[in-house]
Amino acid sequence: MEFKNQDIKNTYDKFNEDTNSLPLKELTAKYLGRNSLVKELLAKIKNIPDDQKKEYGQQANELSRYIEEKLEQISNTPIFQGTKEYIDPTAPFDINQNNSSEVYPKGLEGTKNPLTQEMDRVLDIFKQMGFDIIESRQLDDDYHMFETLNIPKGHPARDIWDTFWTEEGLIPPAHTSTMQNRVMKTAGQPPVRCVIPGMCYRNEATDASHEHTLFQIEGVYVDKNISVGDMLGTIKTYLEAFFQTKLEIKVQPAYFPFTEPDMEFVISCPFCKKTGCKVCKYSGWMELMGCGEINPFVLREAGIDPEVYSGFAWGFGLDRLVMVKNGIQDVRRFRSGDLNFLKQF
Ligand code: DAH
Repeated sequence: MEFKNQDIKNTYDKFNEDTNSLPLKELTAKYLGRNSLVKELLAKIKNIPDDQKKEYGQQANELSRYIEEKLEQISNTPIFQGTKEYIDPTAPFDINQNNSSEVYPKGLEGTKNPLTQEMDRVLDIFKQMGFDIIESRQLDDDYHMFETLNIPKGHPARDIWDTFWTEEGLIPPAHTSTMQNRVMKTAGQPPVRCVIPGMCYRNEATDASHEHTLFQIEGVYVDKNISVGDMLGTIKTYLEAFFQTKLEIKVQPAYFPFTEPDMEFVISCPFCKKTGCKVCKYSGWMELMGCGEINPFVLREAGIDPEVYSGFAWGFGLDRLVMVKNGIQDVRRFRSGDLNFLKQF
């Protein structure tokens, strides 16, 4: 809406701003009540020069109609019926809605997505183990996605994680390893003990075990005299806490440009204890994550002297872990918005 008169325009802008924060009753009193801003505008007409009076009056009335319609609309929106207070979207459900059970029948209040619930649990375990938590980001650059991880331009390993690019040359990260350099630089000199949760994006033809969007949780540990033994013990401790059972572990060879040596971490099936079941596809073992000793190049690029310090890192997909833990057959269900599925958690 266009208003020539500055007072009318200001009232219009203020009203639109207030609709985001004031409850209906206050809005009505402030804009349409006896001493309201609109009444004030109408009263001011006596001070307006004669040749502008007509236009001023029309516009003030137009604003008044606009506000009436808007307030009518708001009062017809179910969430505002019976609401006496501000809506606080961060508050527990019942606080905003004293007739909540009428608006949303019991049982439909919603729950946290199973991925969010498990993410909270995983991070709690790592916090108890003394790790800092730093969140990854949703857009990153070539330097952090590739260069800092020992994957220079033209390196064939780029193909593994070369997924999406924005027109500005930024990348929705394909893994959380993009953060390794940052957390080491932020920590300054070791020790570095950090866990990095984050959303990752992949160029996938999706199926029951592949999604284009997934959560990863990265770990970075750097100090003096850190060995592969420290890594195996740390990851095993975490997984035993997560699955609430003792596990056997083994590693098998893998390839990552940012670790040396590179490994895949394998655990005995927490469900059948190696006797064979559907979850482990009757092999008794499950491969859960990539890991390894951090490549000296990666340490040096973050300003850490690999002659003095060493460390390990890992990266695993949360979605897969939660599937395994709950016997979920299709990874796409987490983000499907299917309430019948989500309500079970
Ligand atoms: N970023 C790897 C991936 O997404 C996983 C990974 C492997 C992370 C080894 C690590 C690591 O930190 O050391 O496939």
